[in-house]
Amino acid sequence: MNNSNKKDTFRILAIESSCDETAAAVVENGRNVLSNVVVSQIDEHKLYGGVVPEIASRRHVEAISSVVDKALSDADLALEDLDAIAVTYAPGLIGALLVGVNFAKGLSYASGVPLVPVHHLRSHIAANYITNKELEPPFLCLVVSGGHSHIVYVEDYTKMRIIGKTRDDAAGEVFDKVARTIGMPYPGGVNLDKKAELGNDAAYPMPHPRVADSPYDFSFSGLKTAALNIIHNAEQRGEAVSAEDLSASYRKAVVGCLTENFIKAANDLGCKTLVIAGGVSANTLLRRELERECAERGFELYMPELKYCGDNGAMVGAQAYYEYLSGNIADLSLNAAATRSIELG
Ligand code: KG4
Ligand code: ZN
Repeated sequence: MNNSNKKDTFRILAIESSCDETAAAVVENGRNVLSNVVVSQIDEHKLYGGVVPEIASRRHVEAISSVVDKALSDADLALEDLDAIAVTYAPGLIGALLVGVNFAKGLSYASGVPLVPVHHLRSHIAANYITNKELEPPFLCLVVSGGHSHIVYVEDYTKMRIIGKTRDDAAGEVFDKVARTIGMPYPGGVNLDKKAELGNDAAYPMPHPRVADSPYDFSFSGLKTAALNIIHNAEQRGEAVSAEDLSASYRKAVVGCLTENFIKAANDLGCKTLVIAGGVSANTLLRRELERECAERGFELYMPELKYCGDNGAMVGAQAYYEYLSGNIADLSLNAAATRSIELG
């Protein structure tokens, strides 16, 4: 890493608008959160059972000025006190990302403060630097969100290699889909997790899908279909499905796939520092199972605080610090991208 730009106190205003949260934060030296403002659109998307991209963009436009203002005032700072302005530019909903990107470009242009583009999944990983001040790469990270399920080797703050990933649906996506079919409100993942705590995880036998010849890759769509079939078959027979038991059985199966591949990758790579990140890293069973597995093996496990698992601006500010130090600074031609590999940053 090039540390020549380093100074004692480096303050970044970070903006996040990749999905259904309009968020901004001020973060000092990549680790200390001075302010963190998140405005969620969940209540509106709930009416439709999922995120409506067009509505998300419009709500970001309405919220972003006041969210950024509040992040600055909570930190007791003005634009001219900042050392960088960071923004999530990929991946995500394109119309939603563009709101944050254009707002950040405008602020950077008006203030002359450098603009730092941040990859959304890299920022999820960086949420761990806020919670775990001592954590430094290299480590192996399970990144599980609504749109992605990756096992990533984080060699350095801005150097990453994908070791495994889902061949079809993401873990968060299948949690949400099954939760919705059971009848839980959006976002289903957290609701299914709560119900699962009350259920019998052996009540509904589930498959354990593996990807042939790719022991670190995941495949969740068959598992999702198995759960949906249980619900639909019961409906056809006029029988009730236990939401608690199905949630528990299904959660156990998804978490079983995630932990099995993650631990295997860690063993094979000889990596004893494990980290989890992304919205699904809030899952109660995933956290419990990994704590147990890591304790048994003498691995160190790092997890973000629950409030930093979902989308937020603080994690963007954390990653942006290291992106800046490695020379990743954008000009005003910066554009948003709906898809982009975490390896490219
Ligand atoms: O990282 P995130 O906030 O947004 C994306 O980048 O996608 O992840 C959102 C996903 C949703 O699918 C949500 O249902 C899931 O994370 N999620 C959970 C839990 N909390 C959030 N999934 C399982 N258990 C949870 N406790
Ligand atoms: Zn996310």
